[in-house]
Amino acid sequence: MGRAKRLKDYKSMDKLIIRGGGRIDGDIRISGSKNSGLPILAATILANGPMNICNLPHLNDITTMLALLRCMGVGVTINEKMCVEVDPCSLTEYEAPYELVKTMRASILVLGPTLAKYGQADVSFPGGCAIGSRPVDIHLRGLEAMGAEIEVDAGYIRARAPGGLKGAHFVMDKVTVGGTENLLMAAALAKGKTILDNAAREPEIVDLANCLVAMGAKISGIGTTTLEIEGVEELHGCTYTVMPDRIETGTYLVAAAATGGAVKLRDTRADILTAVLQKLEEAGASIETGEGYISLDMHGRRPKAVDLITAPYPAFPTDMQAQFTAMNAVAEGTSAVTETIFENRLIQIHELNRMGADIKLEGNTALIKGVERLKGAPVMATDLRASASLVIAAMVADGETLVDRIYHIDRGYECIEEKLQQLGVDIRRVPG
Ligand code: UD1
Repeated sequence: MGRAKRLKDYKSMDKLIIRGGGRIDGDIRISGSKNSGLPILAATILANGPMNICNLPHLNDITTMLALLRCMGVGVTINEKMCVEVDPCSLTEYEAPYELVKTMRASILVLGPTLAKYGQADVSFPGGCAIGSRPVDIHLRGLEAMGAEIEVDAGYIRARAPGGLKGAHFVMDKVTVGGTENLLMAAALAKGKTILDNAAREPEIVDLANCLVAMGAKISGIGTTTLEIEGVEELHGCTYTVMPDRIETGTYLVAAAATGGAVKLRDTRADILTAVLQKLEEAGASIETGEGYISLDMHGRRPKAVDLITAPYPAFPTDMQAQFTAMNAVAEGTSAVTETIFENRLIQIHELNRMGADIKLEGNTALIKGVERLKGAPVMATDLRASASLVIAAMVADGETLVDRIYHIDRGYECIEEKLQQLGVDIRRVPG
């Protein structure tokens, strides 16, 4: 198969039609985490033998990462349970082409491992996206601190380290999830010790670090803001199970809270969702957690408005901001939602206002006056989590809402309409 043929455009113009008014009620299983599955797939490049990655969600972003690995020559075999066997030994191309990076910015995650293992990597420079400019300067400066020579040429990041990377002490200017992941993977095979200061400590980074340790990496400080990595000569293959998706979990909890409903989510974890569960309790939800499950019950009540400010983990996650904004739109009282991570991430409020919400934007804060109900309208998804907020808004709207451009949702929510149908939501997909 030619390289061009292996590059596929996954965008579909499917739409979702949702008839609002009902309460969510039921139980569903939570999928594996997209945001830890992506770096873990990129980390397979570092191994000197086959890896088995289990509990990957069946999502377009994961399929794109697998397409990228295939494009680099990596052997990929998928079984019916989305357990993927990856054989990185056949890698022959050190390039992440524009056609794939433009559909998924997380393609940048192959930069660190490819450079560390092969001394060279060319990755198309990721542009901005709907939620902000999203530079990758910290990824590049960290790799330079480890001895890489990097130039940006014709839209590509061209990184070289012919003698291999060297350990370094690097302080990140800003807390960056992807930057921490790229540098952590690179440091695992660098010569000597690397210290990454002001590192992000999102649970997905802990999951990636645990996977690297299972491959033979020497990492201490996992889950803290200082990661210490003693580089090793080589990493071996292993079997690793990706953690549950905390943002999918949070999204279904908010959907239940917004509709006054009840939900039980299985195969998930409460310990990585503390800030979100705390806000849901503030909104009036009764929450019970146990081994592998979280249940929420609103007892038919309308949620109370909650203020929140997004910040790096363990504070309130930016990836849950849009869903809470939708809940606040129909909550009792007024609230202020402040976004501090991405400059354009309150963009969905304009679509919510078209559905009858009363939200004003002041700088990076949304001032929300809760209304009793929203009204169904045709709306358009602009990014992944904003799309989820429109689906939640549609569930608490009178009449029918048509959500267009749901390829954004399909990047992050496995079987969203099947799961919502299971919870009693009147939702269907119409092909575009
Ligand atoms: C990841 C998540 C995304 C989440 C975000 C923040 C994945 C695939 N995506 O994105 O869902 O919303 O973390 O939790 O895991 N920045 C710089 N320079 C850099 C890198 C980042 O200035 O080199 C800035 C960004 O523009 C942003 C902030 O740092 O303002 C945080 O971004 P970052 O944590 O890197 O987000 P991603 O890893 O892209």
